[in-house]
Amino acid sequence: MKKLLALAVAGTMAVSLAACGSSASSAPASSEATSEAATSAAESAAESVTEATQGGKVGVCIYKFDDAFMTTYRNALQEILEGKGYEVTIVDGNNDQAKQNEQINTFVTQGVDALIINPVMTSAADQIISTVKDADVPTVLINREPTADQMSAYDKLVYVGCDAAQSGTFQGELILDTENKGDINGDGKVSYIMIQGDPENIDAQLRTEYSVKALTDAGVEVEQLDLQRGDWDRNKGQEICQNDLAKFGDQIEVVFCNNDDMAIGALQAIQAAGRTVNKDIYLVGVDALDAAKNEVANGNMTGTVLNDANGQATQAVECMEELLGGKTYAAGEQSVYVDYVKVTPDNVKDFQ
Ligand code: GAL
Repeated sequence: MKKLLALAVAGTMAVSLAACGSSASSAPASSEATSEAATSAAESAAESVTEATQGGKVGVCIYKFDDAFMTTYRNALQEILEGKGYEVTIVDGNNDQAKQNEQINTFVTQGVDALIINPVMTSAADQIISTVKDADVPTVLINREPTADQMSAYDKLVYVGCDAAQSGTFQGELILDTENKGDINGDGKVSYIMIQGDPENIDAQLRTEYSVKALTDAGVEVEQLDLQRGDWDRNKGQEICQNDLAKFGDQIEVVFCNNDDMAIGALQAIQAAGRTVNKDIYLVGVDALDAAKNEVANGNMTGTVLNDANGQATQAVECMEELLGGKTYAAGEQSVYVDYVKVTPDNVKDFQ
């Protein structure tokens, strides 16, 4: 039964499993090149893992439960781990690094077999890595990527996430794919506002940079009307967009949001201001939350980018099991990426 489940999950996540199952890559996997080998690697990896490493105690630290995307991710992790027979404890860091440090210490004292940690602050990675290394606990870091140098301090440590630059590029491409390439008023430039996540976070930094870079690389002139931090939060997304619409009005042609929850907030402000997405304003997010997929399908968002919570959770558990099985990671090979995918009105049904 468990084996069947593992194989079923492996089948859907063939490319990702290959990254952990054979050699971890420091660049996003190319799906075409690897898919066939990946399928068999995934199957044999899942088979051996299922037989070898079922059970055990796993501690999971999430930076805060009150985050829409991390809620989806957390639920996926719990389902996969429990489905494989692990005893799982998941704790809420409440966006407080000191609290999370205590939680990690408590897990260590309790003698967990492995940890999966979504750090509150990337800048705390050194301390987290030193704690798990001293306690010799195999650890998978997720969602907030430390530097390769930081990770090299401990060879039973791996990071599972996505290449944030890719999601930014995809957001820019969603705008380039519109009929006027984002230049709704035809004045020769794309005027946008940027609603950023937590600026300490590499996802926020790279999405902000690469979404705009996709436009400029395509020769499109851009004008940034505003950039504000919305901390991944729907209410803040709504407030920022509302204020900007009051200030800049029709000048705003594109609203870039570093994630969907802020985009859903921005959509409320756009609708309240009497503007119409895809007619007189464009709106893009990242994550492909259910709410965002519905808005893409209804034409109220220009598009989003799938941040594959199930894929990353599957990959994180796969890497954890490999660590439990004795695998170590060489410096420079400790990041494993799952691909982002563009979600548009044309393909959104495939994701619903
Ligand atoms: C991002 C995600 C955001 C937020 C953030 C937390 O990858 O797109 O919605 O969850 O992680 O670090």
